[in-house]
Amino acid sequence: MTNENKKMKATKAVATGLEGVIAADTALSRVDGTAGRLIIAGLDLPDLVASSSFEGTVAALWRTAGHVSDDQEVADGLGLARVDAFTHVPALLAASAGLTVTEALRIGLSLLADEHPIPAPLRLVGAMPVFVAALARHEQGAEPCAPDAAQGHAEDYLRMLHGSEPTPDAVHAMDAYFTTASDHGMNASTFTARVVASTAAGQVSSILAGLCALKGPLHGGAPGPVLDMLDEIGTPENIEPWLRNAVQTGERLMGFGHRIYRVRDPRADVLGAEVAQLSGNHRQRIAFALQVEETAKAVLKELKPHRPLDTNVEFYTALLLEALDIPRSAFTPTFAIGRVAGWTAHVMEQEQAGRLIRPSANYVGVVPDHLEMA
Ligand code: ACO
Repeated sequence: MTNENKKMKATKAVATGLEGVIAADTALSRVDGTAGRLIIAGLDLPDLVASSSFEGTVAALWRTAGHVSDDQEVADGLGLARVDAFTHVPALLAASAGLTVTEALRIGLSLLADEHPIPAPLRLVGAMPVFVAALARHEQGAEPCAPDAAQGHAEDYLRMLHGSEPTPDAVHAMDAYFTTASDHGMNASTFTARVVASTAAGQVSSILAGLCALKGPLHGGAPGPVLDMLDEIGTPENIEPWLRNAVQTGERLMGFGHRIYRVRDPRADVLGAEVAQLSGNHRQRIAFALQVEETAKAVLKELKPHRPLDTNVEFYTALLLEALDIPRSAFTPTFAIGRVAGWTAHVMEQEQAGRLIRPSANYVGVVPDHLEMA
């Protein structure tokens, strides 16, 4: 008997994307893909964005995960954590030659020790904007700007990134974006962070793993490609032929479709409202993008009738971050500045669950001749 015909047959069907598999209990967020609703820390997303700063969202998520967290203490702690993170910037920049901002951010998180007088969740949330701003400026040949512990997280990020005071509208939009991105059920990066947390590896390793999962274009890496798509389409006359050709040749339209949502992603509406407030110099670009969105939905409906495909968060993330003059190379890391709030809270929850995540697999490989396997 050859090895080939002694291969094991799969014993069970596998959902290779683990769709429908429940991997944890969580009180942090709920994604309702049929109704197009997102609850974070017990609040409907639009209500959370209207009532809470990003610092308040961080505190609410940590409280929900069972950690006593006062809003003001979290805001003060994040200010101190940003200042502490800045001490790592020279080493980070020295190690980042030839790397993209996202690639170098992985190094930045690796510089954080597990043990430190400032608790790891604060250091992780605090370090993100400091590292991203310094790396994005470095890419453009500019010196890093030091954080200001007295400023809000969103304001300080924009100031460190651009080297000038942001407008109140820009701060509002950035803050709303961070809250909108803060948590989203058992997405790929959150699951990754929880798997690592389940081994008791600690917050820093778990969040670094989450960042690595976020990097891919099927998850947090889509907003840059959304703008690339708008650039490639170029003119209103080219919209429909370009989109049609892309879908017919098997390409995925970036910023559309979602594993859970079968209707419009509610985050798209929240960010769409912020984009409308900001449009200013970008009015023409945004009008063009909205035309692309409408045509893309129609083309997808016609060419993929079996799968409802609507706009996801990344389409409006791209427009918002572009309107805030954030460089494309910093789009995915900017998403991480918001999402680290949820990752740290999920790690807290997972650590309390205290159970190693260790699933099984169907063995479909070769069985040695002398063995019989059921
Ligand atoms: N454009 C064109 N077709 C699509 C798209 C898309 N954006 N998304 C799904 N489809 C099609 C697939 O080609 C497939 O068609 P087929 O049955 O004819 O082969 C069908 O819809 C089902 O696709 P799946 O791969 O089963 O869908 P899945 O749930 O795995 O996809 C995903 C979810 C990865 C987000 C997908 O919609 C996609 O690639 N979108 C583009 C990338 C993107 O915007 N990512 C950001 C997501 S939001 C976030 O993570 C923060």
